[in-house]
Amino acid sequence: MFETVTPPEPDKIIRLMGMFAADPRTDKVDLGVGVYRTAEGRTPVMAAVKQAERAIWDRQDTKGYVGLLGDPGYLDAMRRLILGDGLPASRVAAAGTPGGTGAVRQVLETVRRLRPDVTVWISDPTWPNHPAIIDHLGQKRQSYRYYDPATGGLDRDGMLADLGRAKAGDLILLHGCCHNPTGADLTRADWQAVADLCVATGAIPFVDMAYQGFGDGVDEDAAGLRLLAARLPEVFVAASCSKNFGLYRERVGAVLIVTDAKPAADGVLAGMNRQNFAFPPDHGARVVQDILGDDALAATWRAELEGMRQGMQANRRALADALRAATGSDRFGFLAAHKGMFSLIGATPQQVDILRDTHGIYLVGDGRMNVAGLTPDAVPRVAQVLAQVLA
Ligand SMILES: Cc1ncc(COP(=O)(O)O)c(C=O)c1O
Repeated sequence: MFETVTPPEPDKIIRLMGMFAADPRTDKVDLGVGVYRTAEGRTPVMAAVKQAERAIWDRQDTKGYVGLLGDPGYLDAMRRLILGDGLPASRVAAAGTPGGTGAVRQVLETVRRLRPDVTVWISDPTWPNHPAIIDHLGQKRQSYRYYDPATGGLDRDGMLADLGRAKAGDLILLHGCCHNPTGADLTRADWQAVADLCVATGAIPFVDMAYQGFGDGVDEDAAGLRLLAARLPEVFVAASCSKNFGLYRERVGAVLIVTDAKPAADGVLAGMNRQNFAFPPDHGARVVQDILGDDALAATWRAELEGMRQGMQANRRALADALRAATGSDRFGFLAAHKGMFSLIGATPQQVDILRDTHGIYLVGDGRMNVAGLTPDAVPRVAQVLAQVLA
């Protein structure tokens, strides 16, 4: 079957990980791969996760199947974490999924099944897996303007003008917070404007929430989504616990659908899970459920997440300051204003190659930098090199 198949290009980020691992330079810096790192360069198991896992190990006496949607306790905890207590549970359909990617896939496939003709609107740029999954499913897609490289901020007018062309039933894919790859987020007024636009056009928001807690705080990061959920009849959410619980490899995610037809939506989601993978993974989801359901564990988790958030902000400020000193300008001031792990640094693909090959500084090809990959001792050299290569 595969004799005549040309192997697809390996995933760029996976290839970058391999190149970094094989690079013998001791001062190499990985600002490419999208995982959180401590100041020591580690991606640790969070303390609350370890504690919850220990308790599960002691308590769990079966690995029998759970339900097709996952454990109702997990789904309830995720609903509260993401949507808050403002919406009745009876208006939120929910399903566990393998990670946030699984959730994105299940939302898009659900929409394709129910409304094969809708267009999915994605930001330019966006996480590359968004267009990849949409194309794989054979859905129509359009890009909307999002980022203004001149200011390092949101192109609000461009975004609203493009989204104004969305038709009733079209899906508008938004990043809930910590936009990947730009780091430029919507303000409350921008979310309000998107809600107005959805009311006017009948377009449906689809919020990808992969970094809740990495921007301004757990509740602050969900404020835009909650505003949409309070105003609109239908909102889709794909959530990931990979980053904010550090559960990357456990594959913990969820679909939430704000709807007046919860029983029907739950039924469709259960069928969709059944056909794609049957039961969602349980272990990581149970860890999340146990953390959020225990006041002491939840406090430990929130404190650790807050420390991670502050660490990333400190990295942003340190690099912006060092770049101000190295360039004598505020050209990279946007780094301090951006949210989450990522920023687009404004490097061409050739400059990204020079940074990697000559200086051992690894970025993604579009110039996306993961600020969590910075360590305090690396900041001065990274700033000097960036100032020189991007001059
Ligand atoms: C925007 C966005 N959505 C979803 C995901 C999904 O993450 P995971 O499948 O690891 O939970 C990511 C991870 O990089 C992301 O950046």
